[in-house]
Amino acid sequence: MPESISSIYPVVQSRDVRQLGINPNHWYVVAQSNEVTNKPLGVTIWKQAIALYRDSTGKVHALEDRCPHRQVKLSHGQVIDNELECTYHGWRFNNHGECSTVPYLAANQKLPSCKIRRYPVQEQDGFIWLFPGDGEPTIAPLSLPEWDHLNYIATVSTINCQAHYSYLIENLMDMYHGHLHQDLQAWAEASLQDIEEDSHRVDAHYSAQSYYKIDKIWSISQLFFPALRRLHPEPLDVSYVYPHWVSSLGKDFKIYCLLCPINETQTKAYLIHFTSLNAFWRLHKLPIWFRRFVKDSLFGAAQKLLDGLVIQDVKMIEEEQQAYLQNPEVRNYELNRALMSVQKLMRSQEAANR
Ligand code: FES
Ligand SMILES: [Fe+2]
Repeated sequence: MPESISSIYPVVQSRDVRQLGINPNHWYVVAQSNEVTNKPLGVTIWKQAIALYRDSTGKVHALEDRCPHRQVKLSHGQVIDNELECTYHGWRFNNHGECSTVPYLAANQKLPSCKIRRYPVQEQDGFIWLFPGDGEPTIAPLSLPEWDHLNYIATVSTINCQAHYSYLIENLMDMYHGHLHQDLQAWAEASLQDIEEDSHRVDAHYSAQSYYKIDKIWSISQLFFPALRRLHPEPLDVSYVYPHWVSSLGKDFKIYCLLCPINETQTKAYLIHFTSLNAFWRLHKLPIWFRRFVKDSLFGAAQKLLDGLVIQDVKMIEEEQQAYLQNPEVRNYELNRALMSVQKLMRSQEAANR
């Protein structure tokens, strides 16, 4: 039996979930791999501005996005000789965050000993993962084995919402909101069957009806043509694997939502949808290069569906946030017990860092 969260951390129920911070001792996703080049990119994870850049070997580095000279953003600068150069007076910082060059240093002056924070960063499964916690991480980022697997077609949609991350996670864990997406036909008739929880995750198991069955090579066209879809029962599993979200609908679909909470009223996230080609055993006998070609050419096959879902969800989530800001004391009437577990996990994870 998984250990219950309340036996591990004393949960402070009175703490308002919409004001919660994050537990920084986890890997968060701050960018897609293809967004980071040798031109610095400024990102934010929970109020901390960070400059990301690649060195000449392609390795990604993450430094605090603040020039200690006069506090402007280093991400406005450029990468010179694998160092980050500030655009204002040209001071340079190496990938440990130490000042290495001041272009106008006089012969009798020493380099300033100022140092900016360096963050552990990793590139994995198409994304840049950053650890904003204390010291060096002892855990690994969540893995997305489908990203490189030749049997899965990926689609990515970016979520930028003006809302606390709890609204996004609750939206993703409450599959009764299929009502909102009726016109897009993502899933139907969700019914919560079971919940498992421990100090790191909540797994909610729903039964549902799926519109898609990917069992013939031409079934992929169901993603584009609604007339080809037929409702049939499938298990719908959603998990809050703090701080991210993973779900599967039957054997054909796997979806991840990788979070980058920015502050109490802003959240960025990446939604990654994988369609499985596992059912096509003939395809698996073809040369690797051809399978890679199929995978790459079908990249983004579910874009319209995924973007449509995001637009509808973000509208609701932002409206919830606005309602909260106008009347923070108003309480919801929640009937889905998975959401109680989710809130408990958010509180206990945040409390673990206090
Ligand atoms: S502010 Fe960065 S070099 Fe002066
Ligand atoms: Fe949704």
